[in-house]
Amino acid sequence: MRKVDLRSDTVTLPTLEMLEAMKSAELGDDVYGEDPTVNRLEELAAEKMGKEAALLTTSGTQANLVSVLCQTRRGDEVILERDAHLYYYEVGAFAILGGIIPRLVKGNMGVMSPVDIEAALRPSNVHFPPTSLVCIENTHNRAGGAMWTPSQTKAVYDFAKGRGLNVHLDGARIFNAAVAQNLDPREFTRNADTLMFCLSKGLSAPIGSLAVGNHDFIDRARKCRKMLGGGMRQAGVIAAAGIIAIEKMVGRLKDDHVNAKILAGGLAKLGVSLNPSSVQTNILIYDVSGLGVNADTWVSRMGEYGIKFGAVDRNRVRMVTHRGVEKEDIEYTLDAAAKVVDQLRGRS
Ligand SMILES: Cc1ncc(COP(=O)(O)O)c(C=O)c1O
Repeated sequence: MRKVDLRSDTVTLPTLEMLEAMKSAELGDDVYGEDPTVNRLEELAAEKMGKEAALLTTSGTQANLVSVLCQTRRGDEVILERDAHLYYYEVGAFAILGGIIPRLVKGNMGVMSPVDIEAALRPSNVHFPPTSLVCIENTHNRAGGAMWTPSQTKAVYDFAKGRGLNVHLDGARIFNAAVAQNLDPREFTRNADTLMFCLSKGLSAPIGSLAVGNHDFIDRARKCRKMLGGGMRQAGVIAAAGIIAIEKMVGRLKDDHVNAKILAGGLAKLGVSLNPSSVQTNILIYDVSGLGVNADTWVSRMGEYGIKFGAVDRNRVRMVTHRGVEKEDIEYTLDAAAKVVDQLRGRS
């Protein structure tokens, strides 16, 4: 039976070229700043994002955490979209380790407006914690890979700066947003003080993310990463794959977006609640209750055909396209879905 893994773009395996580069990477002790391959990756990341410096971290979660910790003080409030990855999926790390209070805002497909943020801002008053940071997410995972435009990003940034707040961009999939809008990632990152992006998702590197910002931020982030146990030694073995991820794997993300659209169009015809035009990048989130099943049942019935993906909540599931999913896998998935729908409707 064919196997199609649509759980996440994190399941992508390194390319042969990455494995070769890892084997032959020039190495040193990165805690001493002496790993030339890490240094090269960090310089490349900073340049691609239009910032002064970057820091390799073990994961996106760690890059987000150091970014928040370095821009807040204990007891500060941070504004986040209510389904932000930082809030929803990162174990509450910033609250536990940083004493930070999340202030949640409901966005429109993950995008917050200055009006939303203004409503969440509290006046300076003895009762309230001070607000210091706004976190945005592009593309937005739980909003189905929805993307911010540069003008939406600028509107929030200008507003935040006017109120003395910093902006951190969770850009785990910023290259997806850039490719989908045919833009340079700097169109987004110029309107953020700090950002993080991941090498280990659609870009197919096995490990690693980068925190990016100005020199002062990166100096503090480096110390914070050490405090979190993330100082790595010959990390050039990771960085070597990361360099290839940035230099060679960005362009192909458009294939993942095309596949996601085809998948969305086919599923919508079968009666799931999904508007294909809302699928902007490589993530689809849709409701299956119209088929008379809940999310877990849909996941397990599709699993019988070797197709893996996960439930988001009781009625919604998530599918993610990536380098390990070919056009034939999409066709196979749609055939299997049609069969399951027929079975559910008692037609076979
Ligand atoms: C938007 C977003 N931010 C952060 C992360 C965290 O990345 P990691 O899994 O590398 O910790 C993810 C992971 O899926 C994500 O989707």
